[in-house]
Amino acid sequence: AAGVKGGVERTFIAIKPDGVQRGMISEVIHRFERKGYKLVAIKAIVPPKALAEEHYGDLKARPFYPGLVSYMTSGKAPVIAMVWEGVDVIRQGRRIIGATNPLDAEPGSIRGDYTISVGRNAIHGSDSFESATIEIGLWFKPEEVYNWQFAHAEWIE
Ligand code: TYD
Repeated sequence: AAGVKGGVERTFIAIKPDGVQRGMISEVIHRFERKGYKLVAIKAIVPPKALAEEHYGDLKARPFYPGLVSYMTSGKAPVIAMVWEGVDVIRQGRRIIGATNPLDAEPGSIRGDYTISVGRNAIHGSDSFESATIEIGLWFKPEEVYNWQFAHAEWIE
């Protein structure tokens, strides 16, 4: 079953407004899809302030929090919100994305390859099973997340 810690998991991945403005949507999807992960939910959304505040609720006391919330909610571009599914996708997703500070992110990761500013690091990925579960529930209704199977190549067998 999907959403089991340590097995086939689901994670919340979002392309932030700066990533959208820079034309990174296809690049992000490509990297997750080619790895073998399955896109089970996607939408473009300018998050209401309350959603952005709740999403980053654990950072409320940090000095960059107000700027972070206004950047996510500006509407200069929408956020592309996604749920990706697969084995170990939470941890592997963080590896594909790279370190929070782009200057620490390895070349080969999305942040390492495309970004230089922590405040404009293009993409979000859940950092644990618990936060993935909470974030998927914040951004998506259950009926917006689809159970589907990859086709096996029966047509060439
Ligand atoms: P955090 O949850 O620590 O990192 P991550 O996105 O890798 O899970 O921080 C959330 C976002 O807050 C981060 O992606 C960018 C922003 N941020 C800053 O603008 N300045 C900072 O010093 C930090 C730590 C984060």
